[in-house]
Amino acid sequence: MNPILITGATSGIGQQLAIDYAQSGQTVYVCGRNAEKLQELSSLGSHVKPLQFDLTDLSSCKKALHDLDPVPHTWVLNAGDCEYIDDGAMDAALIKRVFTINVVGLANAIEGAQHHFATGHHLVIVGSIASEMALPRAEAYGASKAAVSYLSRTLGVDLAPKGIKVSTVFPGFVKTPLTDKNDFPMPMMIEVDEAAKAIREGIESGKTNIYFPKRFTWILRILGSLPYSVQHHLAKKLIKDKQ
Ligand SMILES: NC(=O)c1ccc[n+]([C@@H]2O[C@H](COP(=O)([O-])OP(=O)(O)OC[C@H]3O[C@@H](n4cnc5c(N)ncnc54)[C@H](OP(=O)(O)O)[C@@H]3O)[C@@H](O)[C@H]2O)c1
Repeated sequence: MNPILITGATSGIGQQLAIDYAQSGQTVYVCGRNAEKLQELSSLGSHVKPLQFDLTDLSSCKKALHDLDPVPHTWVLNAGDCEYIDDGAMDAALIKRVFTINVVGLANAIEGAQHHFATGHHLVIVGSIASEMALPRAEAYGASKAAVSYLSRTLGVDLAPKGIKVSTVFPGFVKTPLTDKNDFPMPMMIEVDEAAKAIREGIESGKTNIYFPKRFTWILRILGSLPYSVQHHLAKKLIKDKQ
C-alpha cells in the first residue's frame, strides 16, 4: 500500500478519509492547522504522520512538504472553505479569503510538493459540483471551485505525459462542519463516511472525475449543460422559492 497525503485532514471529508486509510494500515500524512486534531489522528498509530501548516502561506507549505520519507504516491488536495455572498452585495475581502484558501492554497500545496511527483503518482483534487452551475450566493465559493476544476483538469493534461494522473472530485452536499453552517435546504445530503468511501473507490478505480452522490450530481451536471439563459431562469426560481 503506497503512502498517501491528505490536506484538510483535521475535519469533515478529509478527516474521515484519513481515519479510513489509517485503519487499513496505510501510511497517511495528515495536514491541517489544528494541532489538537492532528494529535488525535496521530494516536491512530505511527503510520499516521501529522504535518501542521497553513496552506495559504507558500513558504510554510514548502517547508512542511520538502522532506517526506516515505514519499506519498497519492496526494489528496482536499482543504477548502466556504463563505456566501448575501443578496448580491459584493464583498471583495470575502472573495479574496475564499479564493486564497480554495485556489491559491491548492496551488501552494502543489508547488510545495511537486518536486516529489513521479510516474505513477496520483493527484486527487477536491472541487465541488457547485462549479457546474451558477447558483445563488455562490459568487465566491462557486467561482473558486470553477477555478479549482479548471486548474485540476488542465494540470491533468499537462502532467499526463509524465505518467502522473490527476483526478477531480465533484461532491454534492456532505454533512460536515462546513455545511453545518448553512441555513438553506441541502437536498440529497450524504454522511461523511459515504463521501470518503466514494473518493476511495474513485481513487482505486483510477477515475478522472469522481462524482457523488450520483443522483444529485447528475442533476447538477445536466442543468449545467443547459444554455446559460435557461440556467439563469432556473437559478432565479431557486431564490423566489426561498422567499
Ligand atoms: N461538505 C460539503 O458538502 C462539500 C461539498 C462540495 C465540496 N466540498 C469540498 O470538500 C473539501 C472538504 O470540505 P469539508 O466539508 O470536509 O470541510 P471542513 O470540515 O470545513 O474541513 C476543511 C478542512 O480544510 C482545512 N483548511 C481550511 N483552511 C486551511 C488553511 N488555511 N490551511 C490548511 N488547511 C486548511 C481545515 O483544517 P484546519 O482548520 O486544521 O486548518 C479542515 O481540515 C473542501 O474543499 C470543500 O470545498 C465539500
